[in-house]
Amino acid sequence: MTNALPPERILILDFGAQYTQLIARRIRESRVYCEIWPYSRSIEAVRAFDPRGIVLYGGPASLAGREPPICDRRILDLPVPILGICYGQQLLAHQLGGEVLPAERREFGSAEIQVDAGCDLFHGLGGPDGRLKVWMSHGDRVERMPPGFRSAAHSSNSPFAAMASTSGPVRVGVQFHPEVVHTPHGREILDNFVFRICGLSPTWTMGSFTERAIQAVRDQVGDGKIVLALSGGVDSSVVALLLHRAVGDQLTCIFVDNGVLRHGEAQRVRDVFETHFHVPLKFVDATDRFLRALDGVTDPETKRKRIGYEFIAVFEEEAARIGDVGFLAQGTLYPDVIESVSDRGPSATIKSHHNVGGLPERMKLTLVEPLRELFKDEVREVGRELGLPEEIVRRQPFPGPGLAVRIVGPVTREKLDVLRAADLIVQDEIRAAGLEDHLWQSFAVLLPVRSVGVMGDERTYEEVIAVRCVESQDGMTADWARLPGEVLARISNRIINEVRGVNRVVYDISSKPPSTIEWE
Ligand code: XMP
Repeated sequence: MTNALPPERILILDFGAQYTQLIARRIRESRVYCEIWPYSRSIEAVRAFDPRGIVLYGGPASLAGREPPICDRRILDLPVPILGICYGQQLLAHQLGGEVLPAERREFGSAEIQVDAGCDLFHGLGGPDGRLKVWMSHGDRVERMPPGFRSAAHSSNSPFAAMASTSGPVRVGVQFHPEVVHTPHGREILDNFVFRICGLSPTWTMGSFTERAIQAVRDQVGDGKIVLALSGGVDSSVVALLLHRAVGDQLTCIFVDNGVLRHGEAQRVRDVFETHFHVPLKFVDATDRFLRALDGVTDPETKRKRIGYEFIAVFEEEAARIGDVGFLAQGTLYPDVIESVSDRGPSATIKSHHNVGGLPERMKLTLVEPLRELFKDEVREVGRELGLPEEIVRRQPFPGPGLAVRIVGPVTREKLDVLRAADLIVQDEIRAAGLEDHLWQSFAVLLPVRSVGVMGDERTYEEVIAVRCVESQDGMTADWARLPGEVLARISNRIINEVRGVNRVVYDISSKPPSTIEWE
C-alpha cells in the first residue's frame, strides 16, 4: 500500500529505545510521514524507501557492551540529513571516527544544556543566554567528535550534548531525548530537523491520506469482492467507511453478535452502518452458539480461544454464502506491525488477543489493510474525514472477547444480564459527568463473590460489581482514574438500586503494571 503514502518521508532506525513509537508520533503530529524500522535493515531497503531524512534512535545500548546494535555503515553515507538521538549520537560519533566512552556517572533526568550558536537544530531556541532544559538518560557519552564535526551544545556533564557536521550532508547528534515531554522544547527541535534541516513540508494530513488510500484500495481490489468483520469499534468502522467509499457494494461487512457485547451494541452498529451509511451488512446473531462454547469455562485464555475459534467459524460460513470473495479487509494499525527492537507491549504476550489471525490463509483471501500505516489518533481523524459519528470516533477500546472476560468465572445468560445492566450505568454516569474522553476505558466487572447486605429489614446475600476506570495513552501502562467522589457515589447508588442481584459495588484502584486493565 505504499502508493497511499506521501513521497516526503522520514525513516526512524530503532536501536532498541524504550519508546520508539513516541518519536514517530511526535514527527507525525508535525504532519510529516515517518516509519520505524529495526536498525538491521539492509541498505537496499533503506534506499528503496527513499527517506528525506533519517533518525538514529537508541536508548540504553552501549557501544562497549557485547554485540552493540550497529547499522550498515553505508547508511551514514546516504545524501540525506541524519539525526542521532542518545545511542544514535554515540553511534554516529563511533562510526564516523570519533570516540565514545562510558561516562563517569550515568546521567539521568532533567539537565540544562548550553546551546552553541549557529546550529539549525536549535534555531529559535535557547533564549538570549542559550540555555535549554532537556531530559537526559545515558551511560556512555561522546568523548571525541569525529573529524568535520563541531559541538552544538554542552552541559556540565556532557561536553558534546549535541554535535553537528560542518560540511557535506547534515549529521547532527543529541545526547538528550527531544521526544519526551520532559524536554519542553523537544517538539521544536524535531520540527527544526524535519522542516529546516530536511526541508520537508507538513503534508501528512488525514484528508490527503484518505484520498490516496481510497485510490489505493480501488487499484488493489479492481472489481473483486471484499469482506470485513465489523465490530463497531473505531478501527473496523473506519475501514468499513473507507472501503465503502472506495468500492461501494463490492464490500460486505459481517457483524457477528457473539452474545458478550455491551447493552445496545448490535442495534447501534445496524443503525449507523445499515440505516445511515447504507453499507451492505450481514448481521448474524450467534449468541446461542457462543454461549454453548463458553459453557462452564472459567479459564480466561480458554474463553478467549473459544470465542476466537467460534468467531472464525461463523465468519467463514457467512463469507462462503456471499460467494466469490477475493479479499479480506482488516483494521490492522501501525503499532501492530512495527518491527521494532524493543517496543513490544506486555499485553501482546500476557493475553492472547482475540483477532482474526489465520483467516486470510485459511480462506485463501488477499488482505486489504488500509490503516496499516496509521497510529490510533490518525485513524480517528480519518474517521472524521469520512463523516463517522463522533461517538464512534472517540470510542473507548473494547476487547474482542467482550463481557466474557469481565465476568470472572463461568459465563451465563443471567450473569451477562446483570453485568450489562451495571455496565450501562457506568457508561451513562461517566458520559453524564463529561469524563468519557479523559478515560482510556471505563466499565463494570462481575465478580464471582457474594457478600452480605441489608435491604429494608431483610438480609441479602448477593453479587459484587467492580468498577474499573483507567487513564492511559496506549493501553500498555495505565493508572486508575481518580474519579470525583460524587460520580462514584452515583454509580454505586444506581447499580445497587437498579440492578437486581447486586448489593455491593467496589472501585478498582490498581494500576498497570502490575495489574492489567481487564480482570481476566
Ligand atoms: P490488559 O487487560 O492486558 O488490556 O491490560 C490492555 C488492552 O487490551 C484490551 N484487551 C483485549 N483486546 N482482545 C482484545 O481485542 C483481548 O483478548 C483483550 N484483552 C485485553 C483491553 O481492553 C485493554 O484495552
